[in-house]
Amino acid sequence: MSAEDAHGCALVTGAATGIGRAIALALGDAGYTVVAADRDREGLTETVAAAVTPMHPVTLDLASETGIMAAFDSAVGQFGEVTCLVNNAGIALPKPATEVTWEDWDAVMAVNLKAAFFLSQRFAARRMGKGLPGAVINIGSTHGIVGVSDRSVYGISKAAILHMTRMLAIEWAGAGIRVNAVAPGTVMTPSREAILEDPDARARALDRIPSGRFPTPEEVAAAVVYLAGPSARSVTGHVLVVDGGTTVC
Ligand SMILES: NC(=O)c1ccc[n+]([C@@H]2O[C@H](COP(=O)([O-])OP(=O)(O)OC[C@H]3O[C@@H](n4cnc5c(N)ncnc54)[C@H](O)[C@@H]3O)[C@@H](O)[C@H]2O)c1
Repeated sequence: MSAEDAHGCALVTGAATGIGRAIALALGDAGYTVVAADRDREGLTETVAAAVTPMHPVTLDLASETGIMAAFDSAVGQFGEVTCLVNNAGIALPKPATEVTWEDWDAVMAVNLKAAFFLSQRFAARRMGKGLPGAVINIGSTHGIVGVSDRSVYGISKAAILHMTRMLAIEWAGAGIRVNAVAPGTVMTPSREAILEDPDARARALDRIPSGRFPTPEEVAAAVVYLAGPSARSVTGHVLVVDGGTTVC
């Protein structure tokens, strides 16, 4: 077995930057063939260029049903099977609840929740149809566990994906499809650098972390690699929090 197919094929959404890029690179290093999906073609090119192992980019919009289906079909078309799905793509919506529009709500839920559900559904249906096991890892957030101001719709979507993790884990456990989640605290990806560009806001965010430092994308990726792999074969329905202790105080 070559290093490339040691663990089969992992489909990672939102892999053009930040945490998704780190996850795609870490899974590649761990021996997966990685299909990196995102709507940002340029970012995907950078992710692929940073990879040591071959990585396959797919440009699509996960806000549409055709985009969701294309993500999965393209990975299966190229590699025959997807053994691991990482639902990482997400949209943050820093906005007071009183200003949220119907369009904001739909846009956040479409990517953060609906795409993750229907990609998982397609993945599990195919694996179960063939009697094969599989692993789904959803990227949640500490904002889906504890309350915070001005992140309502985002936090609601993340709370939902954490519960989706439990619901699907139970429903699919007998078929060998494990469903887990990673819930990061604030990670200084380019998108979060922009949201927290005000030094005072950044200091307040850091103040909420007992360990005194922001988790890195690589630390989140390491949690994903663990949950995807055989060491976690008895782990399902779990939320692995990577937040330096924020949610235990
Ligand atoms: N960075 C943090 O502090 C943090 C904390 C907790 C959870 N998270 C979660 O981790 C994940 C990644 O975070 P990040 O900071 O790297 O995010 P990011 O915003 O930097 O990157 C998200 C990626 O998803 C892609 N994406 C968004 N909508 C898409 C669509 N419709 N179709 C295809 N691709 C789409 C974007 O193009 C981007 O590449 C997200 O789910 C986020 O909610 C992040």
